Amino acid sequence: MENRPLEYDYTVAKMFMLTTIVLGIVGMTIGVFIAFELAFPGLNTIFGHTIAEYTAFGRLRPLHTDSVAFGFTVSGIFATWYYVGQRVLKVSMAESKFLMFIGKLQFWLYVLGVAAAVVSLFMGYTSSKEYAEFEWPVDIAIVVVWVLWGVSIFGLIGIRREKSLYISIWYYIATFLGVGMLYLFNNMEIPTMLATSPIGETNIGDWFHSISMYAGTNDALVQWWYGHNAVAFVFTVPIIAMIYYFLPKESGQAIYSYKLSLLSFWGLMFVYLWAGGHHLLYSTVPDWVQTMGSIFSIVLILPSWGSAINMLLTMKGEWQQVAASPLIKFMVLASTFYMFSTLEGPIQAIKSVNAIAHFTNWIVGHVHDGTLGWVGFMIIASLFHMAPRVFKRELYSKGLMAAQFWIQTLGIVLYFTSMWIAGITQGMMWRAHDEFGNLAYSFMDTVNVLHPYYALRGVGGLLYLTGFLMFAYNIYKTMSSRPVEESELQNASPMGA
Ligand code: HEM
Ligand code: HEM
Repeated sequence: MENRPLEYDYTVAKMFMLTTIVLGIVGMTIGVFIAFELAFPGLNTIFGHTIAEYTAFGRLRPLHTDSVAFGFTVSGIFATWYYVGQRVLKVSMAESKFLMFIGKLQFWLYVLGVAAAVVSLFMGYTSSKEYAEFEWPVDIAIVVVWVLWGVSIFGLIGIRREKSLYISIWYYIATFLGVGMLYLFNNMEIPTMLATSPIGETNIGDWFHSISMYAGTNDALVQWWYGHNAVAFVFTVPIIAMIYYFLPKESGQAIYSYKLSLLSFWGLMFVYLWAGGHHLLYSTVPDWVQTMGSIFSIVLILPSWGSAINMLLTMKGEWQQVAASPLIKFMVLASTFYMFSTLEGPIQAIKSVNAIAHFTNWIVGHVHDGTLGWVGFMIIASLFHMAPRVFKRELYSKGLMAAQFWIQTLGIVLYFTSMWIAGITQGMMWRAHDEFGNLAYSFMDTVNVLHPYYALRGVGGLLYLTGFLMFAYNIYKTMSSRPVEESELQNASPMGA
């Protein structure tokens, strides 16, 4: 019994792989639609005036951001956890009926939460805080799903055979704790039905609408402490957990430096939490908070690049694999995009640079070189690595994977270059003035000048979505092909578990 290899149970991992792909398609399709809507506003009424309310940019934007962040990305985090967790802890989900039940319950409540989130956002219910738009009933569902995930993490850790915790597990635990804390604090809200207006009126709202427990500047501070750390604990920390597992597995190379990974871990944990002030430069928050946000953002380059360099150096002496394997290409480009956005972010956090960048499309460009290049590529790569192993089938087509890689890379490049040019043009035009101090351009002048860049960004997004559909097709065909044993897989990992 002891000598037999463990039979891991991937039921829950497979369920979350499905939502990663479905919600990815939904979120990115909406992204492409709203991108073209900015270039061609007439699209708002393309499905008729009667439903124009539902296709308006303002209604669809949070649906895009929430479905890619809390749908695609969070599903990817759960899917990889239910794969990586078992393998590095050397314990199977099948060994605990309780943990299996918790995993499945987590999945079904998650699906229910997503459905409630989509319907309520479409109906126009929103707390109007970015990335925290959900109203309190959905928030409660999210908290329950999160707690169940925590039970699963610590439950598996509790029954593990492998005593030492591989670095990826540290990053998953940090994701759980970080998001849990931030989400609870930022979403403290009161249903308007229970609130009293400033002139003493009661029963002024309804049960499904709420207002924040914080007001004014305090609200902004808590919101961006949350918002920036959503970047840290949803778009960074769990994605590092993935690359620290999947890159060594796929390449057969041991991680370059375990010490560096620990050093960067604690660096990220300490520094990220102080940098949120960079979203509120030149606002009403105290000046010292703004300066602290800027300084910590610059310091953040160190742990960020520490992780990224560690990932890249893992390929030391094995660079031929990058040319040979599209899957390694995805991961190496993901770490490169990570380096890129964690240099760009600190530059945008410098006060004088932010004076030009803030409110412009340069920020949107920064967001998407990070999310499409780093987050998207790493989740795609992880699922590509997992698919043959969880479905026990050869990957359907490496050629299709390679084509997807190039199409999506081109899409990202078009996306961020067009947004850089658009953003810096916007920033400069807003500031330009004549010798008497009058503004040189009206707001409409800047809108007109942006049109070609918006159209180009739409094309970039469409290419990225096309690649993602190719990915979905490749996984679907893999699932439906002839089964093989894991040891027979052509690209079975040379590194054991
Ligand atoms: C060293 C790391 C980073 C720093 C210092 C940083 C800094 C910044 C700054 C200064 C802004 C603009 C704030 C504004 O003027 O509105 C910003 C926005 C943003 N960044 Fe980063 N960034 C970093 C890494 C990343 C990464 C890796 C991602 C994603 C994968 C990311 C996602 C975002 C998002 C989503 C926003 C937009 C927030 C919003 O206004 O809605 N950042 N970042
Ligand atoms: C097909 C690919 C995509 C397209 C075409 C697209 C398009 C867009 C557009 C048009 C916006 C609104 C920008 C604005 O308000 O001016 C946006 C915002 C955003 N998108 Fe995407 N998106 C895509 C994929 C993704 C993915 C995969 C993620 C995350 C994993 C993501 C995360 C975000 C975030 C965080 C924002 C808010 C940015 C901010 O407030 O500055 N997007 N996207």
